[in-house]
Amino acid sequence: MTGNAPRFTLTRIGNPHSVREQMIKDVRTGLTARHKSLPSIYFYDDYGSALFEEITRLPEYYLARAETEILETYAYDIIAAIHPDELVEIGAGYARKTRLLLTAIHEQEAGSLYVAIDVSEASLRHAGALLTESYPWLRVEGYLGDFGSDLGAVPRHGRRLVAFLGSTVGNLPREQRPGFFRAVASMLGDEDGFLLGIDLIKDEETLLAAYDDSEGVSAAFNKNILTVINRELDGDIDLDAFDHETKLNAETGCMEQSLRANRDVRARLDAIDLDFSLVVGESIHTEWSCKFTRDQVDEELAAAGLVTTNWWNDSEDRFALTLARRSR
Ligand code: AVJ
Repeated sequence: MTGNAPRFTLTRIGNPHSVREQMIKDVRTGLTARHKSLPSIYFYDDYGSALFEEITRLPEYYLARAETEILETYAYDIIAAIHPDELVEIGAGYARKTRLLLTAIHEQEAGSLYVAIDVSEASLRHAGALLTESYPWLRVEGYLGDFGSDLGAVPRHGRRLVAFLGSTVGNLPREQRPGFFRAVASMLGDEDGFLLGIDLIKDEETLLAAYDDSEGVSAAFNKNILTVINRELDGDIDLDAFDHETKLNAETGCMEQSLRANRDVRARLDAIDLDFSLVVGESIHTEWSCKFTRDQVDEELAAAGLVTTNWWNDSEDRFALTLARRSR
């Protein structure tokens, strides 16, 4: 008898009260500043997570396909390098690519636990339900929280492979990455590994298409951040007053998303008693999506006490997976 331990559990890390307080602080600061901005974490309500999933299926969004190709080719090697007891995924989303790692884990009789960390409860439930159904040998623990602050709250169950796929690390601007990488390093023991998905610097045309697709899914994803703010803070921001804008910042190597006012805008967020306005042409910055070179990644990891042990590319050198360990 193995008892009836549930094969999927969901735990909230970070308390809901402080999550809301943080949002209020972010929105108030971001929308009253001279250069307006909103943190990209607010894209990912249930609808936003579903829209992102749709983006990964677009022909222009090469990132997901390139990363999948690498995992299809090298998942076995990645798992063999660590032989983890648990796979911990940061920003797991719907965990579609994760399946390739789980299959390799099972083939090599490594662990049977998948730990998913995400800000979307719907994504965690979706991933948990599908994965436990597909893999009868698997247990899934979901942790609902923000990878920017809550990683230390996830309990450890033996040798770890921590995965951060999709080049989501690129959404952290440069000044936030050292702290993030140090937080990851402190999740790792000597035998553990950190698998990082990296979008590589490439031509502008390819990048622009990936972030401004012909079906308008990227635009809808970008605008959804305003829907989230309206709903959460009882706002009346008119979505039609904004256009999706994406550009490459050549200096930083980051794609930048923003919402540009196509007329003068006044809006009110009733829940926090905030009125704000934009003049026509003014924009709200919503996302960095930074691209990297191999040297840059090695350097940033090294500064956090991590050393790159493997580097895998897709066949067109668009994307890379790097495996790192704690340096001793
Ligand atoms: C999931 C965060 C990696 O930056 O490419 C897709 C999000 N934003 N289209 C990315 C995104 C606009 C995506 N990440």
